[in-house]
Amino acid sequence: MKGQQKTATSSVEIEKSRTPASEQPWRSNHTQPAATSPVSRAPSKKPAPVISIGQLRVERDSLILDSIDWTVERGQHWVILGANGSGKTSLLSTLTGYMPLTAGTISMLGETYGQTDWRELRKRVGIVSSSVHQMMAGHETAVDVVISGRHAMIGMWGEIRAEERAQALKILHQIEAEPILERPWRVLSQGERQRVLIGRALMARPQLLILDEPCAGLDPVAREHFLQFVERLARNATAPTLVLVTHHVEEITPAFTHVLILKGGRVLAQGAKSKMLTSATLSRAFHAPLKLRHKRGRYSLAVSQSLSIVI
Ligand SMILES: Nc1ncnc2c1ncn2[C@@H]1O[C@H](COP(=O)(O)OP(=O)(O)OP(=O)(O)O)[C@@H](O)[C@H]1O
Ligand SMILES: [Mg+2]
Repeated sequence: MKGQQKTATSSVEIEKSRTPASEQPWRSNHTQPAATSPVSRAPSKKPAPVISIGQLRVERDSLILDSIDWTVERGQHWVILGANGSGKTSLLSTLTGYMPLTAGTISMLGETYGQTDWRELRKRVGIVSSSVHQMMAGHETAVDVVISGRHAMIGMWGEIRAEERAQALKILHQIEAEPILERPWRVLSQGERQRVLIGRALMARPQLLILDEPCAGLDPVAREHFLQFVERLARNATAPTLVLVTHHVEEITPAFTHVLILKGGRVLAQGAKSKMLTSATLSRAFHAPLKLRHKRGRYSLAVSQSLSIVI
């Protein structure tokens, strides 16, 4: 199998957290790279990438993903863009072990696919996707849904320990969802559900948080509130690595550092956001002449009236 490709890196300024560690629900239980001792100045080993995919191929009755090389380093936050059917969800489903691969290599959080129990590893990954909505029991309250994320599982099993409830309440405060904590899932609005699902994902203290179209169904104000929340989360020095799938460049907030653009199951472009996110690349990705605008760290996209095909 071919080796991993080099990923464009840019120096990423991550704002130092002003939140005490005890109030950071996304802080991981798992091993973090050891701080370098001021006495011994031996060169520290570079931490393993968060995600490393080499020459990934996924085939069913047709080819879904082909020749995907993608590396996500610690400190980066990625956006995945691409037209409908370009392979975004398939890539993330393969990464999280829900979709078997045909060929290639995957490693995630330092573990190699095929050598590790991926169901265990998945507990260190938070997934927020609207496809999770229908799996929730309608009678469960928002706080119960959050607590059920403690072992990355659906539904409540076993007793709730006092510290788990306290952690869930802290998270509900963080996601600004305290007013709805006792409301059953079935009555929650789309935006409230997305927030609760983020809270649920944070409960397991993930090192990687995958957001697959998390703003689908949100009204413009709820969407902006949600994006500001994700931005604050991403800017915290101990935040999980974020991977956001979206169709809307408006949802790319400044904390996102890199983009992966898929087209027809292949990588069209990838690397630092400032270099890769251009009108030309997006026009190719979406098969139409598009004009990307960038203002005060946020993007917008205009579609030409004369939707002629771009080759
Ligand atoms: N299990 C499967 N068997 C056969 N084809 C599949 C399977 N899963 C996905 N596909 C196909 O693979 C392609 C990529 O699908 P995928 O859901 O990954 O696209 P996407 O980029 O997430 O699209 P969208 O933006 O619409 O969510 C589609 O053509 C889809 O029909
Ligand atoms: Mg999808």
